[in-house]
Amino acid sequence: MPNIPLRSGGPNARIAVIPGDGIGKEVTPAAVAVIRAATAKRNRPIEFIEFDWGADRYLREGVSLPDGALEMLRDEFDAILFGALGDPRVPSNQHAADILLGLRFKLDLYVNARPTELLHERFTPLRDRTPKDINLMVFRENTEGLYVGVGGFFKKGTADEIAVQEDVNSRKGVERIIRHAFDYARARKLKRLCMSDKSNAMTFAHDLWQRVFKTVRTEYPDVDSRHLYIDTLAMELVRDPSQFDVIVTCNLFGDIISDLAAQLAGGLGLAPSGNIHPGKTSLFEPVHGSAPNIAGKGIANPFGSVLASSMLLEFLGWHEEATLLKQSIKSALAENITTPDLGGSKPTLVSWLVNYASKNS
Ligand SMILES: NC(=O)c1ccc[n+]([C@@H]2O[C@H](COP(=O)([O-])OP(=O)(O)OC[C@H]3O[C@@H](n4cnc5c(N)ncnc54)[C@H](O)[C@@H]3O)[C@@H](O)[C@H]2O)c1
Repeated sequence: MPNIPLRSGGPNARIAVIPGDGIGKEVTPAAVAVIRAATAKRNRPIEFIEFDWGADRYLREGVSLPDGALEMLRDEFDAILFGALGDPRVPSNQHAADILLGLRFKLDLYVNARPTELLHERFTPLRDRTPKDINLMVFRENTEGLYVGVGGFFKKGTADEIAVQEDVNSRKGVERIIRHAFDYARARKLKRLCMSDKSNAMTFAHDLWQRVFKTVRTEYPDVDSRHLYIDTLAMELVRDPSQFDVIVTCNLFGDIISDLAAQLAGGLGLAPSGNIHPGKTSLFEPVHGSAPNIAGKGIANPFGSVLASSMLLEFLGWHEEATLLKQSIKSALAENITTPDLGGSKPTLVSWLVNYASKNS
């Protein structure tokens, strides 16, 4: 997994922990235990403060994101380790929208970083592909596009109904995510960057993406950048994922293409993500949801959460600890120590991962 940008590189860290609902409450403490084991011997003072924001509290008190929560997270914490939100008792999922989208939008976490790295070749559905073929980063714009919730209904519920959903793209928003992708590629000497849009059909919004891309790329002659329409990118990713190092795209396409990419390396159980504003409090989470169908059974796979924690440590500038966490997952996969979703039989892997991190730190 390529590195991600730094928060501060400082020696201390204060982490807000939001396990959320369902298996979020199982995988997040597991990840915290592995971080503790990896950092204990290295004189890395790290403080975890847990918050009980989720369905239980919402149903009990009607509170999703408490007053002052955003300011507190922004001012008092370096990063947030997040589990998952979603509970069948809250069919509207209102608490999840308030908390997760609230944090993404109001902390202005404009970079959604979704790395895809094949950690063991038996987890790719592609034939004859090895870890050297599948190692890329998708940057999805995370605060604009079709997700801003601008739109409405006309004649709702009638045969003449019309629904409008606006795709909002600001020059500032487009430029900062494209620039972030170029900076990332340059800093890591990754040569190949692909900007993807649908400018042949979305002739206004994605014309803006085209123009900004063409301007910004002139500042990065050391990065070999190209453009692909999103439909072509989807095909090319499956045909030959080895041609990509960094992909940057809009909110909707990034949502979809990063799931496709994640599946090339084993899918939900192995997919982490970061919601990042470089230099500011940022949020790291596994890609999976709260999995109510297996919650409480002790079989939830913590790998996505541990890999998200590895991204968090990288963000703090703690490279060795970040690598150790990833290495613990690689070793577990190599030894076939996995939960049932990855074909194994181990109930929870926490003690194995903690031991690995302690022994090797
Ligand atoms: N970021 C988030 O908080 C987030 C993301 C996706 C879905 N959700 C919410 O989660 C709830 C359930 O959604 P869903 O079922 O579509 O998606 P999901 O990711 O929760 O589960 C999909 C399938 O994958 C399995 N699975 C997921 N994570 C797993 C893990 N770590 N270990 C083993 N198996 C795992 C589940 O058992 C289920 O069969 C919904 O309320 C949804 O809105 C939240």
